[in-house]
Amino acid sequence: MKSLTEGAERLVPNAAFEFLAKAKALERQGKKVLHFEIGEPNFDTPEHICEAAIKALRGGKTRYVNSNGILELREAICEEVEKTRGFRPDVDQILVAPGGNPLIFYLVSCVVEQHQNIALQDPGFLTYYSVLKYTGIKGNFVRLKEKNEFRLDPEDLNSAIDDDTRLIILNSPSNPTGGVMKKSEIERVAEIAEERDIYLLSDEIYSKMTYDYPHHSAAIRDQCNERTILLDGFSKSYAMTGWRLGYAVGPKEVIKKMSMVLEATVSCTPDFLQYGGIAALKGPQYVDDMMRTFRERRDVLIEGLNSIPKLSCVTPQGAFYAFPNITKTGMNSSEFADFAINELGIALLPGTAFGPGGEGYVRLSYATSIETIKEAVERLKAGLR
Ligand SMILES: Cc1ncc(COP(=O)(O)O)c(C=O)c1O
Repeated sequence: MKSLTEGAERLVPNAAFEFLAKAKALERQGKKVLHFEIGEPNFDTPEHICEAAIKALRGGKTRYVNSNGILELREAICEEVEKTRGFRPDVDQILVAPGGNPLIFYLVSCVVEQHQNIALQDPGFLTYYSVLKYTGIKGNFVRLKEKNEFRLDPEDLNSAIDDDTRLIILNSPSNPTGGVMKKSEIERVAEIAEERDIYLLSDEIYSKMTYDYPHHSAAIRDQCNERTILLDGFSKSYAMTGWRLGYAVGPKEVIKKMSMVLEATVSCTPDFLQYGGIAALKGPQYVDDMMRTFRERRDVLIEGLNSIPKLSCVTPQGAFYAFPNITKTGMNSSEFADFAINELGIALLPGTAFGPGGEGYVRLSYATSIETIKEAVERLKAGLR
């Protein structure tokens, strides 16, 4: 007799945590491991944000609250969307959640039936794949091409959509490639969603993290009134990964149902944490300083990788991920990731952890010091000679 559901059987562990565990095991044996596996900024949450949450906690903000999120934070999010995307949603269009991740689950469970499918990029963020595995919903994958600097081609997306496609997932800047789509490409995706009359999840968690050209939001077209669900949060732009704080903006009827799923799973987002979110949005902004540091690191890493004859790497335009091509090494992605951690002491992730389209690549999160990056490049150079 089967003891688990098929969905549970299909789930696989998150590769980042697997490689982190491998790295920690090697460190316990006294080895020095260079960490490039985890996707989080290595900066501390700004002090004023911590203070606001501590003050709220001390002030008794410790009870159940509205499952949509406290009004003050939702109002601050409306202001933020107006400032960054040029339209002001209604507070009833906002749902605050413990991180962006659960919102992806909530949305899929509210808008996609089991026999329908989701059109999305390959390689793509791990959670999209976990949702597909867990729910059994089919993914219509759109390959990201290196020659297109890993930008999703809207016409490839259009070809992947069929009569059963219910949702498009768009992610720019993108995890795992660092690719950033151009304004015209994003506008075309929003247009396709409208033409084909399907929902569009625009995952903009890295929206503040671009280098050479600004992020453009797919949500501008319908202002999240018809089909677009904008996903953003605090983890990356405010170095708040462990807080678990994110939000969605969408059509009122979709948000209302998603909030009921949230209510049934976690009841609400912790009250005092939401005050940290208000302080983040309203207080001083440090993301540009963070991006200046990331740019220096990116440039050192990309130059270093491209100086190694068996590697080549497109310059990422956003986030803090590099996605080098490793095919000339003769290893596949998984062999390369094992070789890197076991032989070179570098923890990075196989591209295939992000979908079959990641074969031939590995992902490095360069949220680490320049010294660590230089040392990793030297180790790779020596190891691949
Ligand atoms: C593309 C993308 N979307 C969403 C998330 C979710 O972030 P969080 O749950 O920390 O808000 C991440 C985190 O790595 C991500 O890379």
